[in-house]
Amino acid sequence: MSRRILVTAALPYANGHIHIGHLVEYIQTDVWVRYQRLAGNRTVFVCADDTHGTAIMLRAQQEGRSEDALIADMRAAHVADFSGFGIEFDNYGSTHCDENRALCGEFWGALRKAGLIDERNVEQLYDPVKKTFLADRFVKGKCPKCGTPDQYGDNCEKCSSTYNATDLIDPYSVFSGAKPELRSQVHYFIRTEDLHGFLNEWTQTGDHLQTDVANWLASAFLVDPLHDWDVSRPAPYFGFEIPDAPGNYWYVWFDAPIGYVASTHQWCQANGEKLEDWWKNPDVEIHHFIGKDITRFHTLFWPVMLKTAGFTLPKKIHIHGFLTVDGEKMSKSKGTFVRATTYLKHLDPQWLRYYYATKLTPKLDNIDLNLEEFADKIDGDLVGKIANLASRTAKFVETAGLAAKYPDDGGLFADVAAAGADIADAYETCDYNRAVRTIMLLADRANKFVADAEPWKLNKDPANAQRVQDICTVALNVFRQLVTYLAPVLPKLATEAGALLNDPITSWSQSQRPLVGTKIAKYTHLMTRVDRKKIAAMIEESKTEAAPAASAATDAGATQTWNDGPEPLAAEPLAPTCTIDDFTKVDLRVARIVAAEHVPEAKKLLRLTLSLGGEERRNVFAGIKSAYKPEDLVGRLIICVANLQPRKMKFGLSEGMVAAAGGGGPEGKEIFLLSPDSGAKPGHRVH
Ligand code: 2FM
Ligand code: ZN
Repeated sequence: MSRRILVTAALPYANGHIHIGHLVEYIQTDVWVRYQRLAGNRTVFVCADDTHGTAIMLRAQQEGRSEDALIADMRAAHVADFSGFGIEFDNYGSTHCDENRALCGEFWGALRKAGLIDERNVEQLYDPVKKTFLADRFVKGKCPKCGTPDQYGDNCEKCSSTYNATDLIDPYSVFSGAKPELRSQVHYFIRTEDLHGFLNEWTQTGDHLQTDVANWLASAFLVDPLHDWDVSRPAPYFGFEIPDAPGNYWYVWFDAPIGYVASTHQWCQANGEKLEDWWKNPDVEIHHFIGKDITRFHTLFWPVMLKTAGFTLPKKIHIHGFLTVDGEKMSKSKGTFVRATTYLKHLDPQWLRYYYATKLTPKLDNIDLNLEEFADKIDGDLVGKIANLASRTAKFVETAGLAAKYPDDGGLFADVAAAGADIADAYETCDYNRAVRTIMLLADRANKFVADAEPWKLNKDPANAQRVQDICTVALNVFRQLVTYLAPVLPKLATEAGALLNDPITSWSQSQRPLVGTKIAKYTHLMTRVDRKKIAAMIEESKTEAAPAASAATDAGATQTWNDGPEPLAAEPLAPTCTIDDFTKVDLRVARIVAAEHVPEAKKLLRLTLSLGGEERRNVFAGIKSAYKPEDLVGRLIICVANLQPRKMKFGLSEGMVAAAGGGGPEGKEIFLLSPDSGAKPGHRVH
């Protein structure tokens, strides 16, 4: 009987681009979904962007645009990346949508009704510059145990000790560098301990989790009373305001998994289905695919939410490890932090799908991408074993087509068909490594069959025509079986093979019956060898890309050493004290550079036209030519001295001055124009 399956992959954060690390999961999930469909199971695959939280709010501020604009752009980029890799969702939503807001209300209402929500004051660090509370990962400082600088607010990477962010020595906000203040604010909590018995049962029985995960939960959490889960954040926060707690927002991890349901809801609306038929129906299997870092949210908190609100519990949560490249964490400086778009510029997406499939097992181990092995596997397996079967035989039956009756092949077809059950089981259990290994062993046998039969020799004598057609019929049939088995991993190859054989590959059962008597299309290349130079080009390009945006804020903190030296001050000692009246005589204003050009006769100067808003303009000659190109300046906001007495220069009248720091350096290049934070407008006075 056909199953009804709802599948989700983790919702990627909307503050960063998709990279090859993310793709492990999306490829793993897409392969599983495609396998289920091929096997005849009705399968719906949903995902969405995870859009809420402080990081997105601050990033939008920094970029001077709304959160909505930021998340819309990122969603479009994610959708394009997924589609480039053949990852096909039935619905790709966003957690920032009406359906999600309404569903959050429904879950919240159920939790309230069950008496599971507590409220109490929490002391938390607050960034007085960015005016926001700081999660532990947004605070850094010296480890209170070993004194190592620049450690995160919850644990030390050097000595591994764990502590509270408030224990850090000389803490600073990774957003602004400011010293955080301790502020007290009400927070709302879910009392998960009330469902401890349920969680014991759900996590430890029913095969919902990999054994290692179930054991880890049992020993790390379930042995003790469960902590309350803090699910609210005070304003300012980008998210949904809690209707019965104004000024407080649901924490991003509260609304993110509800986003799975919201995305399904959107799919239901578009397809005339009912949400309760998918999320409140014991006949539907819900399968979540996630990385091991977010296990706790999905295996403890999410089941509590689902159970309380009367939604179906997941049948299985499939958890995978992280990606390493050549045995190490992905690294920007090594060029191994490869974005999906960068990969697609240089390499075939099918290759990565195949390579990851060869590595994926149901274990939680990390997956290593070894780029030499990657190239060898594509060349050896896909070109040398699979495409080769067709490329060496199709041309001999281009006119005759496949034999009308399937010839005697010594049991080859039957053996390959019989292996189908084991390969299917491997896909079902996420053991793609086993599926692919089995397929490649069968491919070896098929290639041996062709090599022994030597159709290219027999073909020279027309008397062998029938024999050649038979050999090629066997080879192309086994090719078709193997491509059917690989179709979840390599859907494009399956489509092309279907076109070659005039018989689209749409069902697993096609591997069980030979195809006979069909005409075949002219063979065209199915798979190319890997050009190693393109791998190198991809790595090189990745080195030059902007820092990964997903963690831009934390990275800025990570590389920040704060060892500010005394040199600048020594080079230019402080000026004598001035009075506030002295200072206010200088009218500093925000201005926009509306034009910038070289002054051919002047070595150091650029001519800038500054707008102070409205019609107010200033012509200024600024000594910044060594550090800035005119085309990079146009449109930029700067600070100018707006009431400086105009000065006649050789090249014209200078009507002000732009504020800049530095001015030294060996080539005079160390000049840094000052800019206001986003939101400032031309004409604003600087006080
Ligand atoms: O870890 C992450 O990238 C999260 N954005 C995953 C959310 S999955 C789900 F719960 F929404
Ligand atoms: Zn330490």
